Amino acid sequence: MPAWLSDAVFYEIYPQSFNDTNADGIGDIEGIIEKLDYVKGLGCNAIWLNPVFDSPFKDAGYDVRDYKKVAERYGTNEDLVRLFDEAHKKGIKILLDLVPGHTSEEHEWFKKSCEPERNEFSDRYIWTDSAFCGIAGHPYIGGEAEREGCYMLNFFKCQPALNYGVLNKTEKWQLTPDHPSCIATREALKDIMRFWLDKGCDGFRVDMADSLVKEDDEVKSATGAVWQNIREMMDKDYPDAALVSEWCNPQCALKYGFHADFYLDHHGNGYNVLVRDCETEGGDHSYFKKDGGDGPQRFLKDYLPRYEGSKDYGYISFITCNHDTPRLTKALDISEIKLAYAFFFTMPGVPFLYYGDEIGMKYLDYVRTKEGGFQRTGSRSPMQWDKNEKNFGFSDADKDKLYIPQDLSDTAPSVAEAENDPDSVLHTVRSLISLRHENKDLQADGDFEVVYTAEGERIFVYRRGKLVIAVNPDGAEARVKRADFKCDTDASGNLIYGIGSADFTDEEIVLGPQSFAVWE
Ligand code: GLC
Ligand code: CA
Repeated sequence: MPAWLSDAVFYEIYPQSFNDTNADGIGDIEGIIEKLDYVKGLGCNAIWLNPVFDSPFKDAGYDVRDYKKVAERYGTNEDLVRLFDEAHKKGIKILLDLVPGHTSEEHEWFKKSCEPERNEFSDRYIWTDSAFCGIAGHPYIGGEAEREGCYMLNFFKCQPALNYGVLNKTEKWQLTPDHPSCIATREALKDIMRFWLDKGCDGFRVDMADSLVKEDDEVKSATGAVWQNIREMMDKDYPDAALVSEWCNPQCALKYGFHADFYLDHHGNGYNVLVRDCETEGGDHSYFKKDGGDGPQRFLKDYLPRYEGSKDYGYISFITCNHDTPRLTKALDISEIKLAYAFFFTMPGVPFLYYGDEIGMKYLDYVRTKEGGFQRTGSRSPMQWDKNEKNFGFSDADKDKLYIPQDLSDTAPSVAEAENDPDSVLHTVRSLISLRHENKDLQADGDFEVVYTAEGERIFVYRRGKLVIAVNPDGAEARVKRADFKCDTDASGNLIYGIGSADFTDEEIVLGPQSFAVWE
């Protein structure tokens, strides 16, 4: 386990939308370098960068055409290496985005794979042996290539599935995961990883990490074996580099070698019911909704087995949002969001802050889809640095040239304004992250235990190491008697952080409306 992860706080940068330095309307690597002090000033000591590689951008870069070349619109490979170096000087780590399950249909491997003559790349993707034979249970394309066969897709039409094999082979065109061609795919992936690790990147966020071997068993053991093999390479040659999975099943992912696994917004899971339970009938039941009505039980029912089943292997990553999910502002107001952040940044594991969430940027539900974003586009609009500058200081391009239109409402937040407002969510984020850095108990490894919940009550009290933390998302005051605590604590009741009013006496905890407190 890379030691730096234990106190890591990540900032996710969607490069298109962060900072444009050459006025083409699209963010670039130079723009990220310019803002490293800003990232550091938030307290973030690591960055996850969405894909920056050569691509036709039919899925915003998750359709990679060349894994070893930075897309021209972002700069050059040298610029990316400079970003690694400049970030390292400031104590910031950089994770690149690794897309192992598919490439762009324009990748050289795929073009070769489409050729009718057998060659080194014929088996790099999953093909049937007839243009009229599809693939049951999976999306596929037929009739596009001269090669006789249909090929499997991993996501959009532009993303053919790389071939790591099929676990329970039933068709003669399927290859088993131990087939030399499937091993070659894995080795090609390792080669890409080595290429960037040797240049100084600090690891990878891994896209659709569970999608490698097809017809895998329930616990994805064959896909897991691929990652275990990759982790062996990391442990041997890059022991300080991190692997974070987009899997949302930490009990599996962490055992297979990932250091951390995201808690994603999957409908009805613990993360979703905390903050995005707005599509349920009868109103928004999200735990952090002031009038949501629900207690933390649904979250805990989902979270506790994940935590208990994975804490010995690695970390769960709570996210404020990501480039695939609606920003929290879609359904929660700022007072609700502050409490949600307070919770995320005081939980075990490695937290991730999505760019713009530190100022409460809005989800723009009216923007037109861009580069395969569709409903995700509303969470990908350009960063709002300063309201008084052209395009909020994001870019000097004409407004209609911007990658995605910006928030034009009167209430659009900006960094400059938030800096001057002591009540801004920006100040809350900064103070929470610094609280985390100052208290080892709040960091990735500090233990977690439920101190108090009760059916029909919304208050939630938990312990991180020797610290006692309480949250009350409700509009009404809440009280808990010490005698009703489910576990012992030696906290003296000395408040080290608070939102709203909170008191911890010898007899009880009293939390005012919408409050949060950390006591030692
Ligand atoms: C992941 C990415 C998403 C992308 C998809 C296909 O879910 O986060 O943005 O579209 O994989 O690569
Ligand atoms: Ca640019």
